[in-house]
Amino acid sequence: MRKILVTNALPYANGPIHMGHLLGYIQADIWVRAMRAMGHMVTYVCADDAHGTAIMLRAEANGITPEQLIAQVQQEHERDFSQFAIEFDHYDSTHSQTNQDRAAEIYIKNRDAGHIAVRPVSQLFDPEKGMFLSDRFIKGSCPKCKADDQYGDSCEVCGTTYNATELLKPRSTLSGATPVEKSSDHYFFKLPDFKEYLQKWTRDEGRLPTSIANKLDEWFEAGLTDWDISRDAPYFGFEIPEAPNKYFYVWVDAPIGYMSSFENYIKSKRPDLNFDDYWKKDSQNEVYHFIGKDIVYFHALFWPAMLEGANYRTPSALFVNGFLTVNGQKMSKSRGTFIKAETYAQHLNPEYLRYYFASKLSDKVEDSDLNLDDFVQKVNSDLVGKVVNIASRCAKFINKDFANTLAAEVAEPELIQSFIDAGEAIIRAYEQREFSTAIRDIMALADRANQYIDEKKPWALAKQEGQSAQVHAVCSVGINLFRQLAIYLAPVLPKLAAQVQDFLKLERFDFASRQQILAKHEIATFQPLMQRVDKKAVDAMVDASKDSLTQATTTENSSHKKQKNTQNPAKTPAATTEQIQIDDFLKVDLRVAEVIAANHVEGSDKLLQLTLNAGEAEPRNVLSGIRSQYAAEDLVGKLVVLVANLAPRKMRFGTSNGMVLAAGNGEGIFIISPDQGAQPGDKVS
Ligand code: 2FM
Ligand code: ZN
Repeated sequence: MRKILVTNALPYANGPIHMGHLLGYIQADIWVRAMRAMGHMVTYVCADDAHGTAIMLRAEANGITPEQLIAQVQQEHERDFSQFAIEFDHYDSTHSQTNQDRAAEIYIKNRDAGHIAVRPVSQLFDPEKGMFLSDRFIKGSCPKCKADDQYGDSCEVCGTTYNATELLKPRSTLSGATPVEKSSDHYFFKLPDFKEYLQKWTRDEGRLPTSIANKLDEWFEAGLTDWDISRDAPYFGFEIPEAPNKYFYVWVDAPIGYMSSFENYIKSKRPDLNFDDYWKKDSQNEVYHFIGKDIVYFHALFWPAMLEGANYRTPSALFVNGFLTVNGQKMSKSRGTFIKAETYAQHLNPEYLRYYFASKLSDKVEDSDLNLDDFVQKVNSDLVGKVVNIASRCAKFINKDFANTLAAEVAEPELIQSFIDAGEAIIRAYEQREFSTAIRDIMALADRANQYIDEKKPWALAKQEGQSAQVHAVCSVGINLFRQLAIYLAPVLPKLAAQVQDFLKLERFDFASRQQILAKHEIATFQPLMQRVDKKAVDAMVDASKDSLTQATTTENSSHKKQKNTQNPAKTPAATTEQIQIDDFLKVDLRVAEVIAANHVEGSDKLLQLTLNAGEAEPRNVLSGIRSQYAAEDLVGKLVVLVANLAPRKMRFGTSNGMVLAAGNGEGIFIISPDQGAQPGDKVS
């Protein structure tokens, strides 16, 4: 029996779980279940990744403490995982005492071994907010092409990359203030100390997918550099030992969360397990991290180096999955394909998605597409049309005519044996994470089972005199074949498998249990196992994903570098007399927002630049044509109504992310303000 520890990438505690996340979690959960069904001992842990500036600011914008925010989000994450039958043995948070202690220990060991350097770094500082600004909180004009409204690292217009300090007319996106350059000491992890070690490590047999190892070679050639692991206060994270007001950058204590979650599991639920058995340097037990391809750098370089520097074992392998597209494109809120786990589960059975993902996944680092039409077709044809159908065709006769008992003599032993034998390849495919191969093989068996029943036609035999024993024999074979399929599908469809196990009154449902053919075996009354996917439910899910302005927006916004605004400019509004339907109105996402800062826009006598708190992770920047009526300073603190899902509009003076509602009669402009008691982020309807 192998002893294995499996982890998934820890989701950030400031946004919802969505389809893109689920791909990796479902992949790992299937693997864990399959390895257990093979008889291995697998421990499966995860945690929320709770630290960092984004979480700190989001909590601030929501008027709560970071601790409150991460507690709330963790609850939502755990709810979502459980809906999708992603069953961690333990789910923790990186904001735990155990994690703090472990992070301190790993840091100190590395420091004492000489792998930490300290030197001053000059960075832009927001004097109003009193904090250093990372590139994405700074905007200004591109030093090369002079385009306005560019982030602090690169220009989206001409593609130049630069240092934030080079931006022209820089401003803080948090306060609107002009940042100043300021120096402070930073702590660095000396990654180049581990160059030879990592070059070998990444090429160890089975450690990484080859495509990733090749990519790493490029990084080695480009040269490893010291990694800045400290952030100055204010920062939501762990203070660095003996470095007052310096905090570990979130990516230091995040992977350490794998260890501390496991440790808290032992402390809280499994005192029989031993931490060192899994993490000490010469451990023979296995450790696997399932991660997305975007975080390979952290897991294949920093993480093994930190572990090596602290004299711990490193992961046995990294299992890397690609990105998810929906209907062939990047997930998009405007198309309704940025689908949250919660929204999906409100409309569709999570097992459908597990099956669909399994049918797509292999051990390659390839992107997967969730094509919604294909999804409906595949689930209906494979699961409902082929698999479940076998049981419903056979069970009713066993229930009705044979006292719920399968035939004592097994007909077609060779056919059943061939299903049992086919399991070898299916199990191997699971082990190698070749899930699409496993599913293909299982569906080929399902076809054969249906073919057998089609040929024998028990429904026709049942109408003939003296054929009762034959009906019994055929349906008993059918149930045996169905049971083989259900056992093979169990890692993918655990809920269905549990129902089948009850229906067939089986004590075991692991892979080895399939060897025992069912004869003279009592079963329960058949209950429908799975409904067809209704295309209308899929459409409703897409519609619902269009409606809500949730953290999904902030997640998209926070990865601004990857995001391009592909929407058309706003259309000319219909004549005011034209009627619209309620659905048209519901497309407009109106939110209460508070004006945090208001500034004149240089060169414009109409516009004011407003920084709004709309209850999101990051403040909004909106340009509003109200300067003729309002003094900027009078607006601060005022509540306004924001059209939150308006496509960003690029103007000569910058980009406006939304619109503030105002009434106008040609002579004056009057901002529409909600009544007292409304809070930033409240929905207006
Ligand atoms: O990229 C992310 O979503 C990170 N929160 C993943 C962290 S994985 C691990 F290192 F903690
Ligand atoms: Zn430029």
